[in-house]
Amino acid sequence: MNPRLRRCLNALLYGGLPLWGLLFVSCVMVRRPMFSPPQFTAGPMAGAQFVGSKECAQCHEEKVRSFGGATHSKLLAPGENAKNVGCESCHGPGSKHVQSGGEAGTIINPRQSPATCFECHADKRGEFALANSHPVLAGKVSCADCHNPHQGEMVIGGGARNLASMNDTCFQCHPSQRGPFVFEHEALRENCTTCHNPHGTVNAKMLKSRNASLCLQCHFQQQTATGQIVIGGRDHAGSLIRGTCWSAGCHEAVHGSHVNSSLRF
Ligand code: HEC
Ligand code: HEC
Ligand code: HEC
Ligand code: HEC
Ligand code: HEC
Ligand code: HEC
Ligand code: HEC
Repeated sequence: MNPRLRRCLNALLYGGLPLWGLLFVSCVMVRRPMFSPPQFTAGPMAGAQFVGSKECAQCHEEKVRSFGGATHSKLLAPGENAKNVGCESCHGPGSKHVQSGGEAGTIINPRQSPATCFECHADKRGEFALANSHPVLAGKVSCADCHNPHQGEMVIGGGARNLASMNDTCFQCHPSQRGPFVFEHEALRENCTTCHNPHGTVNAKMLKSRNASLCLQCHFQQQTATGQIVIGGRDHAGSLIRGTCWSAGCHEAVHGSHVNSSLRF
């Protein structure tokens, strides 16, 4: 058993009630990545061993070279354990793949299944299971459509050094949000993720919020003594009861409009 887990269990069994609060903090709240690279007991990869990233360089030289600057290369720890958290942290143990000279079916390709990503990012499995999410579990969209595992920033377009923007990734599959619009909504100059969670949410269209608070992140709302609710210089008291800001007849063209400066349609 993992010694850390054993310590927690022992404390749970013998520590008594006063320890519970403390335990919650020490077992659960510690921000430390847990590594558990995939292992296999059945299928063509059964019994495969970890061989280390150096072995991969024989045949995938370019990938190994560029990996030095990738987000996940920081997971390479020094020492004997290191070989378990390089390329094989996502691709699984590679001995059979190497021995066979790269035969099909001897190594995991996460494009086919995000299962190895979930080994370390368990919370993401939950997000993609939500009612409104990108169809990753159905195999129609891959983590690799928006993430770059081998080189540079893992979030494509993320990070200060990037020339491409995060939105460009979204436009590849959602061209109608790209514009240019006659009346653009300046909100889109920031990221799509201001309003959408790209993994999934409980709200329709993967929106981060289902009500006006989505828009009030940036638009100031002021209540006057006479009962007016002023947003964007206009009284909205009569409008807010009609539904969300983007309901029919209101700001339907929330991504930008070709005809109306108030993004009505
Ligand atoms: C002896 C040469 C050789 C070595 C060593 C090797 N590979 Fe491969 N690998 C290949 C060949 C050949 C292919 C199939 C053609 C291609 O995609 O380049 C392949 C394909 C792959 C694929 C795609 C598989 C698929 O089904 O889409 C992955 C992932 C992969 N290798 C990862 C690794 C990793 C990780 C290592 C180190 C543990 C490694 N390889 C070591 C030769 C090798
Ligand atoms: C963070 C997880 C992760 C790590 C670490 C990782 N890969 Fe990959 N690898 C992927 C994903 C995801 C794909 C599918 C990418 C795609 O289809 O665009 C992939 C695809 C591949 C492929 C086949 C497709 C291609 O692009 O040629 C090879 C070969 C490969 N990886 C080798 C490696 C090697 C060698 C290393 C270590 C230097 C490595 N990978 C480290 C996630 C990872
Ligand atoms: C062995 C464990 C492990 C595996 C497997 C793994 N990750 Fe990660 N990943 C991590 C850790 C730890 C971090 C945090 C690294 C950091 O903050 O520098 C991280 C960070 C990330 C980030 C955030 C990067 C950023 O700039 O904030 C993304 C996105 C990500 N991983 C996606 C993936 C995807 C997609 C896969 C599968 C192809 C995957 N990961 C597989 C451990 C893993
Ligand atoms: C439709 C595009 C898209 C897909 C598909 C996608 N991601 Fe992401 N992911 C993003 C974006 C964009 C961010 C950055 C969010 C931000 O900065 O607000 C992100 C951030 C992350 C992060 C770091 C921040 C966080 O939320 O914890 C992790 C980890 C991550 N993704 C893992 C995954 C995994 C694992 C998969 C596949 C199972 C996946 N993502 C599929 C777009 C995507
Ligand atoms: C590889 C293609 C691909 C990429 C990249 C992509 N998406 Fe999607 N997106 C899809 C697919 C497929 C659907 C599901 C459409 C459906 O169910 O009809 C979808 C659905 C959506 C929806 C819900 C649409 C609806 O009508 O319910 C939103 C919102 C969305 N994506 C936003 C984004 C954002 C934001 C990004 C960038 C972070 C992004 N997408 C990147 C393919 C993609
Ligand atoms: C200011 C908030 C906001 C931003 C920023 C934003 N969206 Fe949206 N998006 C919405 C709202 C609200 C809806 C729901 C519209 C509806 O239900 O009629 C939506 C709906 C969508 C849909 C579903 C189809 C549709 O038009 O109803 C897609 C796809 C989409 N957004 C993609 C994107 C992409 C890609 C970006 C970044 C370029 C982006 N969004 C930025 C608020 C936003
Ligand atoms: C990231 C910040 C941000 C978010 C979130 C945001 N907006 Fe905006 N919006 C702006 C900026 C900046 C402008 C241009 C300056 C201005 O008119 O206030 C603007 C302009 C507008 C305009 C045009 C005002 C006019 O008549 O000239 C409308 C309408 C609008 N937004 C509606 C919305 C709605 C509806 C939402 C929620 C779905 C929303 N905004 C969310 C930043 C944002």
